[in-house]
Amino acid sequence: MRTIRATLTLWYTVALAATVLAFGITISLLEHRSGFGKLDERLTAVGDLAAGLLAAERRAGGPLVEESSDPLIATLRLEVQQRLDAIPDWVIVVDSAARGVYGSAEVRRFTPRAADLLRRRVFAVAGPHETVTLDLDRTRVRFVVRRVIGAGPEVIAVAVGAPARDLDLAPRRLVASMLLVAPLILVFAAVTGYLLSARALQPVGRMIDELEAISDGRSLHRRLGAAGASADEVGRLANALNSLLARLEASFVALRRFVADASHELKTPLTVMRGGVERALTDQATSPDALLPLEETLQEVHRMTELVDALLMLARVDEGRMELHKEPVDLAEVVREVFETAQMLGEGAGVEVALEAPDGPVELEADRGRIRQLVMNLATNAVKYTGAGGQVGLTLTSSPQAASISVHDTGIGIAPGDVDRVFDRFWRADAARSRTGERPGIGLGLSISKWIAEAHGGSIALSSRPGRGSTFTVTLPRAPRGAAAVIES
Ligand SMILES: Nc1ncnc2c1ncn2[C@@H]1O[C@H](COP(=O)(O)OP(=O)(O)O)[C@@H](O)[C@H]1O
Ligand SMILES: [Mg+2]
Repeated sequence: MRTIRATLTLWYTVALAATVLAFGITISLLEHRSGFGKLDERLTAVGDLAAGLLAAERRAGGPLVEESSDPLIATLRLEVQQRLDAIPDWVIVVDSAARGVYGSAEVRRFTPRAADLLRRRVFAVAGPHETVTLDLDRTRVRFVVRRVIGAGPEVIAVAVGAPARDLDLAPRRLVASMLLVAPLILVFAAVTGYLLSARALQPVGRMIDELEAISDGRSLHRRLGAAGASADEVGRLANALNSLLARLEASFVALRRFVADASHELKTPLTVMRGGVERALTDQATSPDALLPLEETLQEVHRMTELVDALLMLARVDEGRMELHKEPVDLAEVVREVFETAQMLGEGAGVEVALEAPDGPVELEADRGRIRQLVMNLATNAVKYTGAGGQVGLTLTSSPQAASISVHDTGIGIAPGDVDRVFDRFWRADAARSRTGERPGIGLGLSISKWIAEAHGGSIALSSRPGRGSTFTVTLPRAPRGAAAVIES
């Protein structure tokens, strides 16, 4: 069973079925019992009557039993027999020699075997009263056996009976009708259970939706709404989750603050260091031996400044404090500028850089500095991850709705499994060797680029084949979404 809903439905159905079954069994048992009880009561009364009758006959007219020539056969006196015949139930009278001295019409119809069984059973009864159920010739008969006192030494017991068939039948009919309605009950229980559990689980479903909406660090300020208000289990769960969210938010905020503050604090000393090293490099008094280490130091300081800038920017993005300064920007000009820088980089690395852009301007509302940073990130990556002899191409195309800048290279490419990860913070394909080495980097460029594209309402896409090269394509809408909405309305 996969969902709680299905499990609840199943258990509900099973529980209801079990309840109905237990109820039915109890009812039919009680019915059976009370049926026999009533019958026994009547038979006992009739038995008392018959016993009284026999005693009265004995007092009035001497011995009741008349012996015949066969010592195995004896019968009651005829007039006594006639009086007993008036009783509508099944009656048998047994004498002290265990002979049946009287049988009503039904008893006389028994086969000798059945009659024998009945006679011996009645004879064996010792107490004043006993109820006996016998299967005689495939008929179940209930008898009340009674010792007869005061009817002379010959007659000792009388039994009055009636068929128990109807009594057995009633509960059986009940069970049969229950089996008939059982499927209906089960279907009803399943449907009800399914609907009920849906109702019961509704708040949980809502909570899941709300939680799913709080998907990243930036929506941690949100809380679970409606569910938290109720005092039931779901409400308690919502409250527990809310306080968890509050704690998470607090630590996220603290973390961001720390990164932002630390990056900020590092900026000034780095600027001072750079100034110092640059001055030392240009100072005539610096010994030539010190120049190389100073160069290396300067490079490290540059890289660190880059890292600190990137961290500060991402911290601001996370805090929601990163703002775009939008103005009309000519994308063609920006791409051309980046192209010139990339060309210089390419010359050093033996990579040929080409540009393909429309002659006229491609105007767009955007943050010029950020767009430049974005294109520059892609272009420097393209040059950096392409070996000597390779090519890099910058292409700018535009339509009335969107502009797109694609940066293509014939470099090392990216493995299919890594395509989704290149935009992750600090992710680098050759992480192990690369903090310095031949392709230094920190792995933040693409995540910043992605943010810039998305903050402009655009997107960034990547297609790549290992060993063959990569193409990063940035698409930026030309009419910002807000403006489009205004035009539409
Ligand atoms: N044009 C490219 N060709 C091959 N791999 C690339 C390219 N651009 C980015 N990558 C891979 O994506 C990783 C992340 O890029 P980026 O975020 O710019 O960080 P960095 O350049 O500092 O390593 C790089 O380390 C590299 O492995
Ligand atoms: Mg980079």
